[in-house]
Amino acid sequence: MPATVIVGAQWGDEGKGKIVDLLAQHSDFVCRYQGGPNAGHTIVCDGETFKLHHVPSGILSDGKICVVGAGCVIDPGLLVEEIDELEQRGVTTAGLRVSGNAHLIMPWHVAIDSASERRLGKLQIGTTRRGIGPAYADKAARLGIRVQDILDPKILRQKFETALAEKNRFLDEPLEAGDLADRMETCAARLRPYVADTSLLVERALKAGQKVLLEGAQGTLLDLDHGTYPFVTSSNPIAGAAATGIGIGPTRIESVIGVAKAYVTRVGEGPFPTEIEGADQERVRELGAEYGTTTGRERRCGWLDLVGLRFAARVNGMTSLALTKLDVLSTFAEIPVCVRYRLPDGSETDEFPAHQSDFHHARPIYELLPGWEEPLDGALPPAAQRYVEFVEAALELEVCMIGTGADREQVVTPRGLAGIA
Ligand code: IMP
Repeated sequence: MPATVIVGAQWGDEGKGKIVDLLAQHSDFVCRYQGGPNAGHTIVCDGETFKLHHVPSGILSDGKICVVGAGCVIDPGLLVEEIDELEQRGVTTAGLRVSGNAHLIMPWHVAIDSASERRLGKLQIGTTRRGIGPAYADKAARLGIRVQDILDPKILRQKFETALAEKNRFLDEPLEAGDLADRMETCAARLRPYVADTSLLVERALKAGQKVLLEGAQGTLLDLDHGTYPFVTSSNPIAGAAATGIGIGPTRIESVIGVAKAYVTRVGEGPFPTEIEGADQERVRELGAEYGTTTGRERRCGWLDLVGLRFAARVNGMTSLALTKLDVLSTFAEIPVCVRYRLPDGSETDEFPAHQSDFHHARPIYELLPGWEEPLDGALPPAAQRYVEFVEAALELEVCMIGTGADREQVVTPRGLAGIA
């Protein structure tokens, strides 16, 4: 049984959690392959809202195995808090498995993330300040501390000593390895039962014919290699990274579902061609409740950008698209959709510019589509249907799911759920 990847097709916050939550009900495994507590998935389940940062959203469906893969970075204190909150609200975490190869976010990573943003001033990236970049940097520099290091208190202490000999040079208040090891022990004891060889578990599940979902965090345009660098995250959200992040071969993946909002949002700094000017930006933000799950920051809102989406379809090898939050557009009489960019030399393109200067100065060319101006609580009105078909035609890709409201049930599946994943 091949695995399915769910990937963000814009700048994150596309509503992947809701799509994963829906598909998880028909899957056996749900696995996160990159990112850390910079992610925030909001899922509304039976009227209750859950905000998840590390734990895959499949945890809300009974009996699923939920994997946090080797490509993730984990803040141990925050993960314990998340587990405790789920348990207190009656959600069992017995199915959670954490890769021993995932890296840990340490207090110095969080401190360095904030200090570096302060130092950058006007040039700052607008990170979530959760220590993501510094943790991935240490992983690449081979100075990182991994989940498996918490299995042995002696090893953990030694790792702290080595790391702090370097990191204390950057900290206003130096840390002491012994103190830190003692403080970490409570957390470590809570997490030990969840540590597993997740690569092996997933491979065995696939061989046994079980259904496996691989869930990306953030989105394509925040990808470290293919996104709008340097205004990106420090990992690879794109679908190709699912195999490395989990530890399975790329031949195990057959379908890639991109998730995009029916408009676009972006948190943090960086170019954003279709950002809405004037009062409509605030209108979309209010209607879509566009405030960050992790930081509470206002999200910048823009009209749907088919140039960006075409790029996402390409770099992810998307096999279908889930279009979320279509209901947010229900009050607009006309809806602009960006079909091409005009570049600084006056030429027009429907392909995402490969060069940063072209992208930074790209102007959107819109086509105005008629709105439907009625709630989406039954079958889609004809204008909403046309909006979806317009996207399908532009991308040459099938829209397999349409989000029409926050609740778990508010999803239209034009061709049914069977065969999606
Ligand atoms: P970092 O991942 O905290 O280093 O932040 C780098 C960039 O990615 C910033 O622009 C963040 O706002 C953005 N970012 C990180 N995680 C998310 C997410 O889950 N949704 C949307 N944007 C994110």
